[in-house]
Amino acid sequence: MDFHGAHILSVKQFERADVDVVFRVADGMEPYAQRKRITKALDGAILGNMFFEPSTRTRVSFGCAFNLLGGHVRETTDIKTSSLTKGESLYDTARVTSGYSDVVVMRHPKVGSVAEFAAASRVPVINGGDGSNEHPSQALLDLYTIKKELKSNDREIDGMHIAMVGDLVHGRTVHSLSQLLLLYNNITFTLISPAELRMPAEIVAELKAAGHRVVETEDMEAGLQDNDTVYLTRIQEERFTTKLEADIYRGRFRLNQAIYTRYCQPNTIIMHPLPRDSRKEASELDNDLNQHPNLAIFRQTDNGVLVRMALFALILGVADKIEQSAGEVGWYTEGRF
Ligand code: NCD
Repeated sequence: MDFHGAHILSVKQFERADVDVVFRVADGMEPYAQRKRITKALDGAILGNMFFEPSTRTRVSFGCAFNLLGGHVRETTDIKTSSLTKGESLYDTARVTSGYSDVVVMRHPKVGSVAEFAAASRVPVINGGDGSNEHPSQALLDLYTIKKELKSNDREIDGMHIAMVGDLVHGRTVHSLSQLLLLYNNITFTLISPAELRMPAEIVAELKAAGHRVVETEDMEAGLQDNDTVYLTRIQEERFTTKLEADIYRGRFRLNQAIYTRYCQPNTIIMHPLPRDSRKEASELDNDLNQHPNLAIFRQTDNGVLVRMALFALILGVADKIEQSAGEVGWYTEGRF
């Protein structure tokens, strides 16, 4: 695909070669993300960071990625403080706000809303999550992390075994990650969820049609065995009609040190898009695994900055110009990475 000026709305727009391009550019961002070098490749550019749903990592890491490339960030963080509450359409909001920035990242609770916004936008738009539908930049950073983690053990994405656990019906991260894996070969998916929260049937059908093996189960102990990666998710309570309904499922599938040691392969990578629900009644990923070397959750968040820098650099056409404006860091940076 041609990244220049492209919207990033769905993982379905990528070919495998495109993913390789993003990962290669992301690798090159490491010295900048780790504050060993600075660059001004996007000096003067403005990011409109528009988040109409709660977010910590996605919003801040997109902003941070843009800053690290030398650009400025404008935040719109609450639907209540924007004109959308006065009845303004997404079309009008897009026409107006895209005149104020060079690229927009948008998160919105409604499925398809970011694509609707992008259709009216004058500048490229990246989907930071549209309801329970998709979260393409998260899928890219998850796959980038999986690739790196597997590589350190001489394993690769083709042929891997991955378990996805939790709220698979509402989780946009697992929807995007599994659909991105359609580009790879011979993967075994073990989908562990309550029957009511299973992965949408269309996605399961697509995975099978692409030649992958899919096992759907409610038996966590059996499902955890024989995986390269276990990807846990939070019960997406904001997608349920009532909190009480979400409570039924909270805490049903948990991973902790004892369960990991008993059922997982010793080199199984532990992932979670975060936030993990650390309330006692949930704890889908227990704090007692915090020091475990296979816990990749904070490597995922660090990798997110690299991948988001790569997306901006490719979309705005500066991927080959990062070094031209690069220089030394003038402040103390030891011991952070
Ligand atoms: C996820 C999301 O918003 O879909 N968070 C994230 O972006 N890392 C997962 C979640 O909220 O559970």
